[in-house]
Amino acid sequence: MCGIVGMISYRKVSSLLLEAIKKLEYRGYDSVGMACLHEGSLEIRKDIGKIADVDSKVDFTSMEGTSGLAHSRWSTHGAATKINAHPHSNMEKSISLVHNGIIENHHELREMLVKKGYQFSSQTDTEVIVHLIDSYYRGDLREAVSLALKKIDGSYSIGLLCSQHPDILIAARKDSPLIIGIGKKENFIASDVPAILSYTKKVIYLENEEIAVVKRDSAQVFDLDGKERKKEVHMIKWSTEKAEKRGYDHFMLKEIYEQPDVISETVEGRIGDESIDLSSEMKMSAADIKGIKRIIIVACGTSWHAGLIGEFMIEELAKIPVEVEYASEFRYRDPILERETLVVAISQSGETADTLAAIREAKKKKAKILSIVNVVGSSIARESDMVLYTKAGPEIGVASTKAFTSQLVVLYLMTVYIGAVNGSIVTDQVKNRVRDIRLIPMQIRSILEEADHVELHAKKFFTKENALYLGRGINYPIALEGALKLKEVSYIHAEGYPAAEMKHGPIALIDKNMPVVVVATQDNRTYKKVLSNIQEVKARGGVVIAIETKGDTETKKYVDHNIYVPKNSYILSPLLASIPLQLFAYYIALLRKHDPDMPKNLAKSVTVE
Ligand code: G6P
Repeated sequence: MCGIVGMISYRKVSSLLLEAIKKLEYRGYDSVGMACLHEGSLEIRKDIGKIADVDSKVDFTSMEGTSGLAHSRWSTHGAATKINAHPHSNMEKSISLVHNGIIENHHELREMLVKKGYQFSSQTDTEVIVHLIDSYYRGDLREAVSLALKKIDGSYSIGLLCSQHPDILIAARKDSPLIIGIGKKENFIASDVPAILSYTKKVIYLENEEIAVVKRDSAQVFDLDGKERKKEVHMIKWSTEKAEKRGYDHFMLKEIYEQPDVISETVEGRIGDESIDLSSEMKMSAADIKGIKRIIIVACGTSWHAGLIGEFMIEELAKIPVEVEYASEFRYRDPILERETLVVAISQSGETADTLAAIREAKKKKAKILSIVNVVGSSIARESDMVLYTKAGPEIGVASTKAFTSQLVVLYLMTVYIGAVNGSIVTDQVKNRVRDIRLIPMQIRSILEEADHVELHAKKFFTKENALYLGRGINYPIALEGALKLKEVSYIHAEGYPAAEMKHGPIALIDKNMPVVVVATQDNRTYKKVLSNIQEVKARGGVVIAIETKGDTETKKYVDHNIYVPKNSYILSPLLASIPLQLFAYYIALLRKHDPDMPKNLAKSVTVE
């Protein structure tokens, strides 16, 4: 949730840290701070607000020093105030520390430290860590950090500088991401890769309960008992430019427009002319695949919506029963799992704390874990038995768009692959399924070409305060996702409902002030029923905006506003229907003068429970 960057270099670091922390603003942005170590003393500047505003007030770049830390905060303990902003210091101001995560036993530790005479200046759980380290410090900084971390319950990634040790930067993590970047005569720490991509592409992933001692020309990693660990250096393949806005006004819009390419990349190498092959990634024998009796999908937020669509795909094509669970509920439910249960975790970031905890719970019960993850090397990817990467590239906009559609693509590929192996899908059908997915990038491009049309609709509705989204069958989760997108970025209250359920409650709300967005694409299952649901809305004076199949002449007889998408199979229709709803939410956010990349109170990667 918070963003951390640290740097130890041969050159002045403040402006480099500022650039790096801006790339992590998606992780949290209620306050920002920087510490730089110069001529034996640590200077800290921090304040509430977004990075650019705070920088214009405190002028980070005038800070001197060749080592430093920066932090952008998403508050958990303690309000978003200047005093609670990171970095935090010990009483002598000789140690500066930034933290992401939650210290669960901070009350007890605080009481113990207060009894020892430590004075606290903030309400944060983080300040406990810095005083605790101070209390253990006898000249060996790494040892003091280890001893302190052993006393801490909860999650953390930390970066720390100490004025008595100007040549080292300390980093450590548990259940919260942190990487080390290896540069030339300078090294880095960061919560996420985009922060340091313009400085280096070489990265070491810290594991839980590891401490790194980072110097200008080396980086050593230890366990909490001081035993050194050999670590692999990974090369990041993302380009810096890929992580930037590339001329679009917002990351959200850029990411919406990237979807055709992202989908091509996601299917690349996995589909042949007439077949789908995931054998090298799924690492399950045909017998194991045939033996899958049940699939449980765990996820949060938008990824959970992808899971609901996955349920339709898998049950219909691969004929395996599926349950979709909120990861946060699953972990506390003592779920019944058999060896033949495959648990599929879906997560864009691969760091969502609840999803991570859910797979750990499933692992304890000996289920096999397959994750569908976007961030390579993330915690969920590393803790799963198998990973199918979504290959969407870095997603910076907080409201997920391209990660969502690429999750749907991976779920589809996985379904068809499993279905072909277990005999539920015959070879001829596999061929048709491959043909259908190949059409998707071009079809999304054609929807994007008509973005202006969606913008016109946004202009008609941006002043409304409520909206209802309806869909049926495989497009019911698209109604949920469309409503979520709208509320995330425009702050309009929006609810998604299965269209037929509307008459059991939400129908009471319908009038001319409540726009109703209906996914009414043509299929031979629920289309006719959806038309009836639309008429129920119209009969109560409601205003309907319908997502329709190009060429459909029937729906427009009943609705007020039409948005068209091309025709594909029923199973792939959610991929197309979701695109105009993403654009609709984006344009409404702009018209309401909100920054869609940084919706208030939300964070891109939720590494707390
Ligand atoms: C946060 C984000 C959502 C995202 C959810 C799950 O709430 O704001 O956009 O869908 O986390 O994240 P994950 O990284 O696990 O997909």
